[in-house]
Amino acid sequence: MGSGMGKYPTWQFDEFVPCGVDYGDRAVVGAYDSNHGKFRDYDRASAEIIGKLGLREQDTVVDMGCGTGGFALRGARHCKRVYAVDVSEAMLDYARVQADQAGLSNIEFHRGGFLTYEHVAEPADAMVSVAVLHHLPDFWKLIGLRRAAAVVKPGGRLYLFDVVFSFPAASYESFFDGMVRWFHGSPTPEFAAELETHIRQEYSTFDWVMEGLLRRAGFRIDEAVYSDGAMAAYVCTREAT
Ligand SMILES: C[S@@+](CC[C@H](N)C(=O)[O-])C[C@H]1O[C@@H](n2cnc3c(N)ncnc32)[C@H](O)[C@@H]1O
Repeated sequence: MGSGMGKYPTWQFDEFVPCGVDYGDRAVVGAYDSNHGKFRDYDRASAEIIGKLGLREQDTVVDMGCGTGGFALRGARHCKRVYAVDVSEAMLDYARVQADQAGLSNIEFHRGGFLTYEHVAEPADAMVSVAVLHHLPDFWKLIGLRRAAAVVKPGGRLYLFDVVFSFPAASYESFFDGMVRWFHGSPTPEFAAELETHIRQEYSTFDWVMEGLLRRAGFRIDEAVYSDGAMAAYVCTREAT
């Protein structure tokens, strides 16, 4: 299926082309939940996101880069409507089946991404995006976050989780070697190769860059939590102007 990029300027970054791990690959998508289930608890993480954003039952939420539906399915049980958006048709197909099986009819699925999704509805109360923004180079991250700010109503919230580097840049070799070695000895050794692909080809950036991007896009950062030198969770509010 085409990406629909034909309607955008030819200089625009094509977010439909995977930059590292291929989430358009149905085998990768089919194995995603069982792989991620080894180190993630979707129920607990989603409850934490709902709590941090203060989501109410009348709220609408965009899950940008919804993947298999880890948050979207749980958000839909709590909120009025979830707009589940992803560039990968394979991910959307998988998540749709999960939603059908769970009997959830308040999730709208859309193929698109930070740079292309058109929110044809009232501005949303919140956006959630987990492990997605590193697919865009920094310039395009800002464009994507500006578009996110336009989708969320003034005073609305953003929860952004991603691989963001907060370790001292001077020690990058020992830091990355150590991370890859750790995965080799962990319950998920297959993630060692995925991590190498991530470091080599995807666009994770520095904590100070990410904070600047969020502010310049029009978000106030209410909370920034950095862990293990490579993970970040931001809770933000969309500024009024
Ligand atoms: C690591 S997965 C995370 C999926 C899900 N959010 C989760 O928590 O498991 C990254 C997802 O982002 C999607 N993606 C990649 N680039 C994107 C973009 N520019 N906009 C929206 N989604 C994107 C991929 O197709 C994939 O489903």
